[in-house]
Amino acid sequence: VAATPFAAPLRILPVARPVRQNATTDFYEVAVAETTAEIFPGVQTKVFTYNGNFPAATIVARRGREVSVTHTNSLADPTVAHLHGAHVAASSDGYPMDVVNPGGRREYRYPNTQLGGSFWYHAHAHHTEAEQVYRGLAGCYLLKDPQEAALGLPDGEYDVSLMVRDAHFDDAGQLVYVNGDFNARTTLLVNGRPQPYFQVAARKYRLRFVNCSNERAFRLKLADGSAMTLIGSDGGLLPAPVTAPSFDLWPGERVEVVVDFSRYAVGTQVVLGNDLGEVDSTRSVMRFDVVRTATDTSLVPAALRPLPDLGTPTATRDIQLKLDLSTGAFQFDGKVFDSTRVDQHIKLGTTEIWRITNADTAPAIPHNLHLHLVQFQVLDRAGAPVGGHETGLKDTVTVPPGATVRIKVRFDGYEGRYVYHCHMLDHSATGMMGQMEITR
Ligand code: C2O
Ligand code: CU
Repeated sequence: VAATPFAAPLRILPVARPVRQNATTDFYEVAVAETTAEIFPGVQTKVFTYNGNFPAATIVARRGREVSVTHTNSLADPTVAHLHGAHVAASSDGYPMDVVNPGGRREYRYPNTQLGGSFWYHAHAHHTEAEQVYRGLAGCYLLKDPQEAALGLPDGEYDVSLMVRDAHFDDAGQLVYVNGDFNARTTLLVNGRPQPYFQVAARKYRLRFVNCSNERAFRLKLADGSAMTLIGSDGGLLPAPVTAPSFDLWPGERVEVVVDFSRYAVGTQVVLGNDLGEVDSTRSVMRFDVVRTATDTSLVPAALRPLPDLGTPTATRDIQLKLDLSTGAFQFDGKVFDSTRVDQHIKLGTTEIWRITNADTAPAIPHNLHLHLVQFQVLDRAGAPVGGHETGLKDTVTVPPGATVRIKVRFDGYEGRYVYHCHMLDHSATGMMGQMEITR
């Protein structure tokens, strides 16, 4: 099926409701199951879901208050969930071999002691993570920070999460998953609907973008080229807002922007375009339809949240990402993931510099590195300082072909084994993942 652009309204993601609460913790129960979703009007598409929603309901957490999520796996295959961006114990991190078998149950505990931010949760069982995320096992997790509330940013109905991705549908409107099938994934979905329209008021909105695509990068831009105010990145608010006509959003990344629709007259329609789109259908993501006026007392203060001090580095590591052309496996340092091998031994409480090199120049393949457990700072890319949303805390960073990116990262809080991997999930599924062990 070919989607008609801007035919369906934006679906506002539902907020998950805890099944119970006590003095310290909100408890959620989640059924992981195959079901159907109406992605195209009148068509039932088979999907995998957390509690029946494609994509899943948003978990809203508060800093300092714990969240417990218990999954029951009703899929035919093992699965495990990872809370991307979160600082959690290894036992709750969704380690790729720590799977829940069909029929099994398992609790994840999220302490929410870190700085607030827009995180997301998704499937992570090794080899099947790419397909399971593609089929729908992904949702937003907003960690609200009381300190942030005082800033006066747009909130309530004017704070909207937008999960963007691509997909390949067959003629019957069913999802087709083939690893590496990038060129066939030409339907863009926002919150599970193809290129929706969103009726907005002529005022400021906080838009939290999450790229949950397996391989697609976006360069998002309003069609009239007018400026957006970038306020947040993977790990929460930037030190200060950055005004830009566009921003890049790679798989796994989050970017928060404030768009002031009061610059448009009621009746104006503004397309959110993608400058990295290679065909018509991937060049427009959604459309904002300005339909009413509204009062607006929200603000974007000139200072948002200072970057935390990540300490003085005491070690430097080099990591290389490359496709093995003979096997088709994507690798780190010439090796595919092996859970019995520790690739990086790290001392708890230390700060390191990681130099990450993408050696895939022929063919040129971009990669993007995600580290579990931490939020890091990007020092430079190909020797040049980074800007825009990359001035904030990051957990995922793009490494273009031939480039070296340097990050500064502090390993604190938890010991144990965690993975790092390329967040082009079609790559990590073939083995582009490594293991770090953090010890005292
Ligand atoms: Cu979003 Cu290990 O992943
Ligand atoms: Cu990759």
